Amino acid sequence: MVVLGIESSCDETAAAVVVDGARILSSVVASQVSTHEKFGGVVPELASREHLRKIVPIVDEACRRAGVGLNEVEGLAVTEGPGLIGSLLVGLVYGKALALSLGKPFVGVNHLEGHIHAVLLENPSADAPVTPGASGDARLPAVALVVSGGHTSLFLVETTSVAAADALSPSRMKSFAYRRLGQTRDDAAGEAFDKIAKLLALGYPGGPIIDSLARHGNAEAVEFGRIKMKGNPLDFSFAGLKTAVLYRVRGTPLATEAEQRREWRKSAAREVVRDHLGEHCSQETLDLIASFQKAVVQDLVERTLAAADAARVDSIFVSGGVACNSLLRERFAEAARSRRLRVLFPSPALSTDNAAMIAAAGYYKLAAGERAGTSLTAHASLPLGDHV
Ligand code: KG4
Ligand code: ZN
Repeated sequence: MVVLGIESSCDETAAAVVVDGARILSSVVASQVSTHEKFGGVVPELASREHLRKIVPIVDEACRRAGVGLNEVEGLAVTEGPGLIGSLLVGLVYGKALALSLGKPFVGVNHLEGHIHAVLLENPSADAPVTPGASGDARLPAVALVVSGGHTSLFLVETTSVAAADALSPSRMKSFAYRRLGQTRDDAAGEAFDKIAKLLALGYPGGPIIDSLARHGNAEAVEFGRIKMKGNPLDFSFAGLKTAVLYRVRGTPLATEAEQRREWRKSAAREVVRDHLGEHCSQETLDLIASFQKAVVQDLVERTLAAADAARVDSIFVSGGVACNSLLRERFAEAARSRRLRVLFPSPALSTDNAAMIAAAGYYKLAAGERAGTSLTAHASLPLGDHV
């Protein structure tokens, strides 16, 4: 089944064509980084306007690259939430109108379910036994950590087999169920990276910048201590860590240095900033960044491993923009080697927001007979799964 996916929940306008939830024919992502970077974060009003400008050409481009005409698309899958409401509405209204005008079935997809399917898309399920450190096959049930600029959540992902309702699909289809094990009570991990980068005038988005600068810092230099959670130990909280970094910067030479960096970045060309940012950071700043990153990564890894232990599963999925982080990947790979665990990440292009993951998640719904009607609408908050 050829599915056209559309994603516009935050600051990427994306469209993709995916066959049977597994084979990507095209995946096009238009980033809005250049629009938002001067503000150090996404400006919702500007994001919606940019989506409006890009949605039609990006969908056309996805079909062109896939070599598929709109009339050959057999179903549409559109992100319905959670996200910025103005951004979501653009993709949703366009996808719905397109489906109605083509007379094709369509479904709404939860953005977080999409991130989980980014892992399944590249790692088909198999019955192979788990061997330590193995990768390649996504076995369910699994614990999924979705960690991005907007979310930090842990889910238990389970699958059942249902009769396919669609003539285009095999006779039995997989259906997925999600249970929410924990989530952030304040900032998302990616948001914390972005805010610390803004405080230190490093640029936007902060995650990839901190990831590469942290290699030059000593992660043992600043001891932040473990993040303690009252109540559910699988919940997250990064606001305290962010404040701890703020106190180490405010009113110190690090703040003056950040101001100087801000001025330099304003006057220098983008490529110059990209290639020489490290030279404009003192060792103390690099050490602080590396220690901050280590604290975030340690917390994410420990809570995810605790969730896998509690749920007695041996597969972990990690996805969302922060899943690109090199230290996070290293630490999870170490955990997989030392325990009977398999830890799967999407490739970096599918870790950040994209529409291939939406098309893949939508395929299973469409094939199982799910259909949205004209009343399909966007939701800024849209929980995935029941809370346990
Ligand atoms: O999934 P995504 O593209 O959008 C949301 O749904 O939020 O994630 C974007 C987030 C940003 O906060 C960005 O700073 C973070 O992912 N990010 C990273 C890295 N690459 C992107 N954080 C840490 N290390 C990275 N290498
Ligand atoms: Zn996302």
